[in-house]
Amino acid sequence: MEVTISGFLDTGNIMIIPVFEGCNKAPNNATTNLSRSASIAVKSAFASDSFIGKNGESLNVWTKNCQIILLGLGEKEDLTLKKSRDTGAKCFASLSKNHGTKIVVRYTSGWKINNMVAFTEGMILRDYIFDKYRNKDEDDKGPWSLTCQTAERHEEVFRMEIDNVCSVATGVHLARDLGNEPANKLYPEEFGRRALEWAKGKSNVEVEVWDYERLKKERMYGLIEVGKGSIHKPCMVFFRLNPDIDIDSEVPCIVGKGITFDSGGISIKGSAGMDEMKLDMHGSATVFGLFQALYATGHTGRVNGITCMAENMPSAEAYRPGDVINTYSGKTIEVLNTDAEGRNVLADGLWKASELNPSYIIDLATLTGSVVVALGHEATGLFSNSKFLSQKIQEVGDEVDEISWPLPLLPAFEKQMTSSKIADVRNQGKGRWGGASQAAGFLKQFVQERENDEGKSQIPWAHLDIAGTAGIWGGETNVTVSHGATGVQVRALHKLITEWQWVRFG
Ligand code: BES
Ligand code: ZN
Ligand code: ZN
Repeated sequence: MEVTISGFLDTGNIMIIPVFEGCNKAPNNATTNLSRSASIAVKSAFASDSFIGKNGESLNVWTKNCQIILLGLGEKEDLTLKKSRDTGAKCFASLSKNHGTKIVVRYTSGWKINNMVAFTEGMILRDYIFDKYRNKDEDDKGPWSLTCQTAERHEEVFRMEIDNVCSVATGVHLARDLGNEPANKLYPEEFGRRALEWAKGKSNVEVEVWDYERLKKERMYGLIEVGKGSIHKPCMVFFRLNPDIDIDSEVPCIVGKGITFDSGGISIKGSAGMDEMKLDMHGSATVFGLFQALYATGHTGRVNGITCMAENMPSAEAYRPGDVINTYSGKTIEVLNTDAEGRNVLADGLWKASELNPSYIIDLATLTGSVVVALGHEATGLFSNSKFLSQKIQEVGDEVDEISWPLPLLPAFEKQMTSSKIADVRNQGKGRWGGASQAAGFLKQFVQERENDEGKSQIPWAHLDIAGTAGIWGGETNVTVSHGATGVQVRALHKLITEWQWVRFG
């Protein structure tokens, strides 16, 4: 949608006036440029007992050319960024194009810029629908346009902030697009092709795809073994932003699990809900979306990304329980369950990331059902070997409402995962308890150590288990999405990378 910032000029087809509790007369500017009769109707609505601006309250005023919505936000002091964002998203979701597609929001008295930005952001994020495989309605009314109106003194800063929000949202929406694609349309090679296509014509972006032959040459058998059962062979995709800048300094590396479909393989899953496993590549979708967001906002630092793409299918050529995998690291994995495939592909991705002189590594993966048991759909599971990195991820997550919740990386879990009788690590724990921590304990084996002032220590690393937050299938609480992939962690990681660029992580 096209978003513009202006003073209190046009009225649009739908005009939203969000106000605070106790508002018993039309605020200054609420009725500017309305027709005389519309203005009287709005003033009467404000003066009536039917609307006092309580949280969740709304009143429609029908005028000849414009649907006017008075929207209550409750007490001004209680308005948080989250509430602003969620209210914007919910309000947007309730609109219908029957009255036209020009939306005007009037931020009148009492609005602070950061709340205006968040309310607008909620609308922008919610303006998303994945309908490319549906035949178009004949009476399609075209895209929405949004004009945000504010006092002149706010206009410039507000416009700058909204430009940034719109750019980041292109990354969120791209991640959702990728996540929503069915597995027969988006498989590993196709993801690679789209990444190469995306990089075309962008002078400060580089994408490289390591195909099946290259993976064999590099001995990346974590990725190869998981993907070899499918007709769509695996690949590894490298994203590089500003590759020529500060080439000697440490920069972030973000790694994504990209299982374009997780059938479970030979340890096949039950059929209920299996369709949702097209979303098992959301880690890689977030990486791709994040690079788009960083590119679109003009980030000037160097950043690396790696996505591990494979389709986990049962077939005569598939890997099996009992197999031993030789990973890129040189460490071997005993496969006890082919459905614990994400950790196998990430073993190669994390080892590779460790070679890129990273300031820190963050991996994103729809890794375990256990994390959904622990945190539901409310928060991403956060595991880290670095207090500082963990704290920063929590902080940015809280700010943008993509909450990451710390879960333990205890030595006991690592011990379980390294207790195979025939290999260096095993890909399943000894029981089902603490499954998300077991998986994290496994991944930790593939983050390299390096020399530093205090001797040797592991590279700062965080693992984000997004199994519960990557998709909306039922009545979950993320109101910025109506259905399907959420694009989760694009906004949080964008904030982390852009705001903490100059800080040493370890
Ligand atoms: N992709 C799944 C995890 C998942 C579950 C993602 C629900 C999204 C929603 C993962 O590959 C998996 O199957 N994990 C197993 C691991 C187990 C076999 C050790 C799990 O969590 O049950
Ligand atoms: Zn699986
Ligand atoms: Zn999986």
